[in-house]
Amino acid sequence: MIILGIETSCDETAAAIVELVDKNKGAKILSNVVASSADMHAKTGGIIPEEAARNQVESIIPVVQEALINAFNDISGIRDLKSGISKIDAIAVTYGPGLIGSLLVGVETAKTLSLMWNKPLIPVNHLVAHIYANFVVHDDPQPACADRSTNNNPPKFPALSLVVSGGHTDMVMVHSHGDIKWIGGTRDDAAGEAFDKTARLLGLPYPGGPAISKEADKYLEMNSDSLDLFPRPMIGSDDFDWSFSGLKTSVLNYTKQNSDINVPHLSAEIQEAIVDVLVKKSIKAVEKYNPKSFILSGGVSANNRLKEKFHEEFKNRETKFFAPQPKLSTDNAVAIAACAFYYDDKKPWEEVDANPELEIV
Ligand code: KG4
Ligand code: ZN
Repeated sequence: MIILGIETSCDETAAAIVELVDKNKGAKILSNVVASSADMHAKTGGIIPEEAARNQVESIIPVVQEALINAFNDISGIRDLKSGISKIDAIAVTYGPGLIGSLLVGVETAKTLSLMWNKPLIPVNHLVAHIYANFVVHDDPQPACADRSTNNNPPKFPALSLVVSGGHTDMVMVHSHGDIKWIGGTRDDAAGEAFDKTARLLGLPYPGGPAISKEADKYLEMNSDSLDLFPRPMIGSDDFDWSFSGLKTSVLNYTKQNSDINVPHLSAEIQEAIVDVLVKKSIKAVEKYNPKSFILSGGVSANNRLKEKFHEEFKNRETKFFAPQPKLSTDNAVAIAACAFYYDDKKPWEEVDANPELEIV
């Protein structure tokens, strides 16, 4: 089965062609195209929804076209896309959550293609799809050492998953495909949002996560002092919830009270505070639920420090740790198509609508 995935929930415009031969092995990437307007948003310090959507309207067709050309390399040019299109069994698209203008670009494009090409349409929940980035066959023969999760087979159930993105921080228990229970989440800002907002306070560009991580690495290369400048709210609470808005206030107060700001040091402190609470609460959940797999997912799963700490924690545990290949951590269409394989929830195009407020369950 071959699926065309389309993802436009935030500032990325992505299309991918993915093939599934064996559900026990995971989905195989045939092509993966991501066009980002992050450079544009870096200049404004954050996403301007209207600008993001306009950009997506312009790039969606070229991106889908490139995904088709890259997947079916017997195709030489625009006029010869037909044989590639005929190999596609279904179209999968993110229908929420996300920015309404952005979501509409992907959803309406997918509906139009579904009607034009007479292919079934599978609407996909973006947050659930992040988990399915871990159900994709690794195609990098020499993965970076920070990404040592080169498990050849997909995660086994029951699995706990921590979905950490720019807008969400959710801990869920996945009993089987489609059977997901929410067990905790953030009470205010998402973990990615905490990276983005504190980065801005340090004068670092959007998106803040990679920028903070890069600065933190500079500090961590030279120092091994403990990093405990900022508070870890709710770290000892009995639930599986987080709170990140206090971190932003602490960083703001610190920058107001101190004139000589050491950006690499503060970045390492911010990263450590976020990573610390994410890891501690996750391990508490692992001890309570004893899952077969622990699946890290969402944009923040690109963070090397977070992955290193999890790898360390899972070294001597029976629960197997999974993190996506780095290129599949942040928003992409491979995860959307992979999720569609396992859910296979085909809908007539007339019944598919964007839902910006969709939750993970
Ligand atoms: O999943 P994602 O690509 O988009 C949403 O669904 O929100 O996540 C984006 C978030 C941003 O907040 C970004 O700062 C964060 O993921 N992020 C990172 C890293 N790369 C992206 N956070 C920490 N370290 C990173 N290396
Ligand atoms: Zn995302």
